[in-house]
Amino acid sequence: MIVCSCNRLTDRAIRACAASSGKRPLRVLDVYGLLDCKPDCGRCAPSIAALLREQRELDCACTPDDCPCADRAAGVEAA
Ligand code: FES
Repeated sequence: MIVCSCNRLTDRAIRACAASSGKRPLRVLDVYGLLDCKPDCGRCAPSIAALLREQRELDCACTPDDCPCADRAAGVEAA
Protein backbone atom coordinates (compact mmCIF):
# COMPACT_ATOMS: atom_id res chain seq x y z
CA MET A 1 0.00 0.00 0.00
CA ILE A 2 1.30 3.45 -0.90
CA VAL A 3 1.63 5.57 2.26
CA CYS A 4 3.41 8.56 0.74
CA SER A 5 2.09 9.42 -2.68
CA CYS A 6 4.60 12.24 -3.23
CA ASN A 7 7.55 9.84 -2.88
CA ARG A 8 5.71 6.59 -3.69
CA LEU A 9 6.72 5.04 -0.34
CA THR A 10 4.95 1.84 0.62
CA ASP A 11 4.06 0.61 4.08
CA ARG A 12 6.34 -2.34 3.40
CA ALA A 13 9.37 -0.09 2.75
CA ILE A 14 8.63 1.96 5.87
CA ARG A 15 8.23 -1.15 8.04
CA ALA A 16 11.49 -2.59 6.67
CA CYS A 17 13.23 0.68 7.42
CA ALA A 18 11.90 0.70 10.99
CA ALA A 19 12.79 -2.95 11.53
CA SER A 20 16.36 -2.42 10.32
CA SER A 21 16.99 0.46 12.70
CA GLY A 22 17.58 -1.90 15.62
CA LYS A 23 16.92 -0.44 19.05
CA ARG A 24 17.34 3.15 17.85
CA PRO A 25 13.87 4.69 17.58
CA LEU A 26 13.34 6.38 14.22
CA ARG A 27 11.58 9.67 13.71
CA VAL A 28 9.44 10.36 10.67
CA LEU A 29 12.15 12.55 9.11
CA ASP A 30 14.67 9.71 9.54
CA VAL A 31 12.47 7.51 7.34
CA TYR A 32 12.52 9.95 4.42
CA GLY A 33 16.29 10.24 4.69
CA LEU A 34 16.85 6.48 4.90
CA LEU A 35 14.65 5.98 1.85
CA ASP A 36 16.49 8.69 -0.12
CA CYS A 37 13.69 11.20 -0.34
CA LYS A 38 12.33 14.32 1.35
CA PRO A 39 8.89 15.22 2.62
CA ASP A 40 6.85 17.29 0.20
CA CYS A 41 3.25 17.89 1.29
CA GLY A 42 3.66 16.09 4.64
CA ARG A 43 0.22 14.46 4.59
CA CYS A 44 1.82 11.06 5.10
CA ALA A 45 3.67 12.01 8.31
CA PRO A 46 0.92 10.79 10.69
CA SER A 47 0.70 7.46 8.84
CA ILE A 48 4.48 7.02 8.91
CA ALA A 49 4.50 7.86 12.63
CA ALA A 50 1.81 5.23 13.22
CA LEU A 51 3.84 2.60 11.34
CA LEU A 52 6.93 3.45 13.40
CA ARG A 53 4.91 3.19 16.61
CA GLU A 54 3.54 -0.20 15.51
CA GLN A 55 7.03 -1.47 14.77
CA ARG A 56 8.33 -0.22 18.14
CA GLU A 57 5.54 -2.12 19.87
CA LEU A 58 6.39 -5.28 17.94
CA ASP A 59 10.09 -4.94 18.80
CA CYS A 60 9.52 -4.11 22.47
CA ALA A 61 10.33 -6.97 24.81
CA CYS A 62 9.35 -5.09 27.98
CA THR A 63 6.45 -5.94 30.20
CA PRO A 64 3.45 -3.60 29.88
CA ASP A 65 3.91 -2.30 33.46
CA ASP A 66 7.58 -1.45 33.00
CA CYS A 67 8.22 -0.21 29.48
CA PRO A 68 10.65 2.70 29.10
CA CYS A 69 10.68 2.29 25.32
CA ALA A 70 7.65 4.50 24.74
CA ASP A 71 9.12 7.27 26.91
CA ARG A 72 12.49 7.04 25.16
CA ALA A 73 10.84 7.22 21.76
CA ALA A 74 8.92 10.30 22.91
CA GLY A 75 12.14 11.95 24.10
CA VAL A 76 11.40 11.53 27.81
CA GLU A 77 14.32 10.30 29.87
CA ALA A 78 13.75 7.92 32.76
CA ALA A 79 14.42 9.44 36.19
S1 FES B 1 2.30 12.23 0.78
FE1 FES B 1 4.25 12.05 1.69
S2 FES B 1 5.16 13.98 1.43
FE2 FES B 1 3.26 14.12 0.36
